[in-house]
Amino acid sequence: MRQIEQRAFQAYRKQFQEEPALVASAPGRINLIGEHTDYNGGFVLPCAIDLRVAVAIGPGSAQLYSADFDELRPLAGKREGSWVDYPGGVAWALKERGSAVPAFRGAFAGDVPRGSGLSSSAAIEAATALALVELFHLGISRKDLAILCQQVENKFIGVNSGIMDQYASFLCSQGTALLIDCRSLDAEHVPLDLVTARLTLLVCNTQVSRELGATGYNARRSACERAAHTLGVKELRDARLQDLNRLSGEELKRARHVVTENARVLRAVEALRLHDFVEFGGLMYASHQSLRDDYEVSTPELDAFVELARQSGAMGARLTGAGFGGCAIALVKVEDAATLAQSVQQHFQARGFKQPVFYSFQPASGAEVAQ
Ligand code: GLA
Repeated sequence: MRQIEQRAFQAYRKQFQEEPALVASAPGRINLIGEHTDYNGGFVLPCAIDLRVAVAIGPGSAQLYSADFDELRPLAGKREGSWVDYPGGVAWALKERGSAVPAFRGAFAGDVPRGSGLSSSAAIEAATALALVELFHLGISRKDLAILCQQVENKFIGVNSGIMDQYASFLCSQGTALLIDCRSLDAEHVPLDLVTARLTLLVCNTQVSRELGATGYNARRSACERAAHTLGVKELRDARLQDLNRLSGEELKRARHVVTENARVLRAVEALRLHDFVEFGGLMYASHQSLRDDYEVSTPELDAFVELARQSGAMGARLTGAGFGGCAIALVKVEDAATLAQSVQQHFQARGFKQPVFYSFQPASGAEVAQ
C-alpha cells in the first residue's frame, strides 16, 4: 500500500474500530496542454501526478471521516457545502443511475492540495466511485465512472466542468500522458518518457486558491456556447480559424483560444511521438499566451512563473488547470529545476506574492484498488 492509502486504512480502523473492506486511491492531474477545450468537445493532454486521495471503505453506518480535517460527518443525500459533497455526490449519482448502493462508511486521506488546479475534487470522486464499485460489485467501466463523476460536478456541486479531470484520474497510467478526444470520449495513452530525456515537470503552486464555482469558469463556458451558436456550429471544436471573423469582442477572444488550443494539442502529441521536446515546449508557451490574452484566466503570479521559466531556458511553461490562481508547470532539465524554483521564490517574495510551493513530477498511475 502507498503511504496515503495506509493513512486512510489507519484512520478507518481508528474511527470505526474495525478493518475496512478495501482501500482505493486516485490521483490528481496536471494538464500538459489543452486548456478549456474539454467542454468545447475538443482535445486535452493531461497526466496523473503522484499526489492522491485514498479512501478506506466498508459497509455500515453512512458516516464519512476525513483524516485531513479530522472530521466525522453523516453522509447526506444533498449538497451541504463541505468536503463530504464529493463522496456524497458520487453515492447520489450512482443511485440516480439505478445502481444499488447499500449504506457504507469511509475514511479519507489525501495529499492533493485543494483549490490549486490539481484536481483534488476529481481525485476524491474517483477514489470513492472505484471503492464503491468494488465493494458492491456494481460492474461499471472506468469510462462510465468518469462520466458519472463529471455529473457529480455538474449536477451536485454546480460546476459546469468538462470531462478531463475525471477521465485523467481514472484512465492515466504511469509514464504516459492521456490524449482525450472530449467529443468521442476516446482516450489514448501517449508515451511521455521524461526520464530518458533527463527532463522533469516542475509544478509551481502559487498558493492562490480558488473554488471553481466562485470563479469565471461557468461564465467562460457560457461565452463559448454563445460563440458556437453565433457561428452555427454544435461546439467550438467544429469552428475553423477563418470562421472567427464573424465574431467580435469576448466571443472572438474565447473562441480564438479554443480553436488554436485544439490545434496545439494535436501538434503537441505529434511532437511527443517524435520526442521533440523543443517543439512541445514552444506549444506550451503559446498555450499560456493564449490563456492569458484571449481566455483571460491567468494571474500575475502565473505569468511571472512562466516568464521566469522562459528566461531560465525551460523548454516550455504554462498555467495548468482552469487558471484564476492555482498552478503552473514548466518542462525543465532535471538539473535546472532547483535553480528555477529558487529564482521564482525570490521573485515572488520581492513582488509581495504568497510563497509558492513546488513539486517535481513524472507521469503517475490512475485510480487503483490498493493491494
Ligand atoms: C477544470 C475543469 C476541467 C477543465 C479545466 C480547464 O480543471 O474541471 O474540466 O475544463 O478546468 O481546462
